[in-house]
Amino acid sequence: MINNFLEALEMKTSEDGMVVLTGASSGIGLAMTKALLKNGYSVTGISKTSEIDTIKSENFKLEKLDLSKLDSLPAELHRIISEIDAPIRALVHSAGIGKFGSLEQLSVSDMKLVMETNFLSYAIATKVFLPILKRQNRLADIIFMGSESSISGGRYGSIYCASKFAVRGFAQSLREECAKTSVRVSILNPGAVRTPFFDDLNFEPGSAQDNAINPEDVAEVLLTILEARPGTVIDEVNLSPQTRVWSRKSS
Ligand SMILES: NC(=O)c1ccc[n+]([C@@H]2O[C@H](COP(=O)([O-])OP(=O)(O)OC[C@H]3O[C@@H](n4cnc5c(N)ncnc54)[C@H](OP(=O)(O)O)[C@@H]3O)[C@@H](O)[C@H]2O)c1
Repeated sequence: MINNFLEALEMKTSEDGMVVLTGASSGIGLAMTKALLKNGYSVTGISKTSEIDTIKSENFKLEKLDLSKLDSLPAELHRIISEIDAPIRALVHSAGIGKFGSLEQLSVSDMKLVMETNFLSYAIATKVFLPILKRQNRLADIIFMGSESSISGGRYGSIYCASKFAVRGFAQSLREECAKTSVRVSILNPGAVRTPFFDDLNFEPGSAQDNAINPEDVAEVLLTILEARPGTVIDEVNLSPQTRVWSRKSS
């Protein structure tokens, strides 16, 4: 009885705000969306083309937007923001793609696409949201999806690692710029996570349970960041599978 009462007191309302989350249709972003909804947050998700069949919640809306179309990105995001009728509690950047190979193998268009999707869209979306978050004058989090590739480079990962290093440098600088505001900035740096990210790649995490993080594990960390006491910033979280094993797919 007392527990029910305490749970009711802690239940979130639309006043607690909306989480805007990119990459909501798959992998880590999808797990985050489900965890947020389960924990009482409302979510406006963004995907490039995918629908989501598995979420039926009046607190969830999916917007289709190609984040790599940088010229139209600010206007598209302002349109999405104009349809949100609650304070924005957090902006979570999870959309991303991987292109791997030796530098000679990477096409210039793939190099551009990786930087535009994984880094520049994060920077431009943040530039659009930041003044709004500051004006709200209430706790808000901006959470970036980095990677273990934000921390060290590796063979065949030159452009992907460059995009993820860029995200981390951007997040660290922005955290300093926001230190005297109500906006906190965090970055998540997972190692291999078992998601459809690897569907079009020629490698994937090993099949053992401890060769990859589950997307739900990353979603748990997101919740911890959001629930951190105001005044405390969880600035970076690195997560790794216990045993690093990569498996080459047979072609
Ligand atoms: N999986 C890993 O091992 C791992 C490890 C560390 C970091 N990460 C990072 O985690 C993030 C999520 O990866 P994931 O594993 O969840 O991959 P995923 O399952 O392939 O999901 C990628 C998501 O990004 C969206 N997206 C891709 N390009 C987009 C674009 N141009 N515009 C809008 N949305 C776009 C996709 O939308 P559609 O479904 O519509 O295409 C999808 O929702 C990425 O930033 C990735 O770099 C992944």
